[in-house]
Amino acid sequence: MTNSVKLRYLPRRSWDVCDFFSTARIERINDSNSVKNKLWKDLYTEYDARHLYRAIHNRCLIRTSEFKRYLKDWVNDEARHTEGFIFLMVSILGENKQNLEDKLEQRKHDFSQIDSILCNEFRLLTAIGFDELVTCRAYAEDRGFYHQFDVQELNGWLRHLIADEAVHFQNAVYILKRCHSHRLNEVKSVLDDLLGVRNIKSEYQYTGTFIMDYFGDEYTSELLEKCYNTFLRVVGCYEVNSQFGNSEPRKSNRVL
Ligand SMILES: [Fe+2]
Ligand SMILES: [Fe+2]
Repeated sequence: MTNSVKLRYLPRRSWDVCDFFSTARIERINDSNSVKNKLWKDLYTEYDARHLYRAIHNRCLIRTSEFKRYLKDWVNDEARHTEGFIFLMVSILGENKQNLEDKLEQRKHDFSQIDSILCNEFRLLTAIGFDELVTCRAYAEDRGFYHQFDVQELNGWLRHLIADEAVHFQNAVYILKRCHSHRLNEVKSVLDDLLGVRNIKSEYQYTGTFIMDYFGDEYTSELLEKCYNTFLRVVGCYEVNSQFGNSEPRKSNRVL
């Protein structure tokens, strides 16, 4: 795209989890650990957004009205996704809703591993934007998973899930360009820090931070590499090479 395309902040998409699931006839399956593990992981990582939201406020990291609005929309969307995954675990697996909510509340959250990200609005927004792109593409890989249930409403659910994550990604890029344009040449180093945590420390454990939830079969190195290159290209500061982490800074006017 060219510079003539104007970026704008996209408002929250209008849809409700109940729209899909109130009419869906989903057959219960009882003995599928793989389905249970997959849905539970998606559920708790969505749920973790509210803890990241609190950590951001506790650390007073919001500097612009744009980011303030973004976070409010974002945390409400992630709450909507949480609600959807709870519904799925109840209806597909026969889980008890209250038990799930209790289990979610009992999880621990440790943000110390991402202290270098949780230090200012620019670094945080870069990390969240990248995370949203990865999540968007990882959910797109889930089409086969949802097809197995042969329920039309689940396709609609997945489409909305993917579209919400795409909006989160695009709005993060919008704010980076609008409010942090003087720091865009630092985006690559932020991503390298993020991925360094995952790739270099093989002992890395997800600690309920929402960011860095890159585990599970969908999160391949290829997926992360594609997202890394896409993010740098869309932010528009780099010529992107095919080799992961090997991009060279350039001056550019490219926009989304
Ligand atoms: Fe989400
Ligand atoms: Fe999201």
